Amino acid sequence: MSATIIDGKKTAETIRSELKAEVEDLVQTTGVTPGLGVVLVGDDPASASYVRAKERACAEIGVYSDDNRLPAEIDQEELLELIAKLNADPKIHGILVQLPLPAHLDEDAVLLAINPDKDVDGFHPMNVGRMMVGQRAFLPCTPHGVIQLLIRHNVPIEGAHVVIVGRSNIVGKPLANLLIQKNATGNATVTVCHTRTRDLAAMTRQADILVAAAGRPNTVTADMVRPGAVVIDVGVNRVEDPTRKRGYRLVGDVDFDGVREVAAMITPVPGGVGPMTIAMLLYNTVESARRFATSQA
Ligand code: GUN
Repeated sequence: MSATIIDGKKTAETIRSELKAEVEDLVQTTGVTPGLGVVLVGDDPASASYVRAKERACAEIGVYSDDNRLPAEIDQEELLELIAKLNADPKIHGILVQLPLPAHLDEDAVLLAINPDKDVDGFHPMNVGRMMVGQRAFLPCTPHGVIQLLIRHNVPIEGAHVVIVGRSNIVGKPLANLLIQKNATGNATVTVCHTRTRDLAAMTRQADILVAAAGRPNTVTADMVRPGAVVIDVGVNRVEDPTRKRGYRLVGDVDFDGVREVAAMITPVPGGVGPMTIAMLLYNTVESARRFATSQA
């Protein structure tokens, strides 16, 4: 039997329309228009494409976006000056520095320079720490998007065994953390696998919910999935494809065609987790603007 496809594009559209109404209400009742400062350093095509999608999504729901594109050669001080300017700008409620940064820049120092109250990516150590101990924090967008997808498709999280393949700071680590929180969207049992895991397939076959976030195509194949499992594919990989006009196509970390015959539910790539990441970025930006408006009242 073929798996039900979890349509992230449609779920993200629903969230965006909820947020659009919230922005209208915020503007009407407080006069505050949410603003996102977007910073893109260099001309990596994938990063440029993500940033375009984020700015388009802002415009669609009435969030103001301030576009800052910097040459790859920019030095650390100039970048920190821009962050300081965005930190001080009352029209800006969220700051997004698209990662990865060019190798000569100190990513940790840049993330640390962002005012935690404007850290809508949830990457500042202050927000990471607050999230970990269960305090109010901006949640990182991709893990939050994965959880929203599960909730909005009635996949039970409490008591489920979630196996995550990948331990990045952006996805694996924070997702594991959120899922073990003692709250309504947590209470899962979580196993985190990575490149040094012994017998990966033995681990993944135990999953009720299997999350692939390794950044490598075909990391999860059908033999690694328990029949009836829910499979969430966070991977976005460009593979060469001369039949496409662009010369490449996007694939996830999961062998979609094989795994869909085993799983109960599965997210596609594109159209799964990707649009949810953007929706949750908007969610954090609107939330930040609301907090700002409330603090000014
Ligand atoms: N690069 C890959 N994913 C992300 C993300 O969610 N936010 C930022 N800022 N950069 C990324």
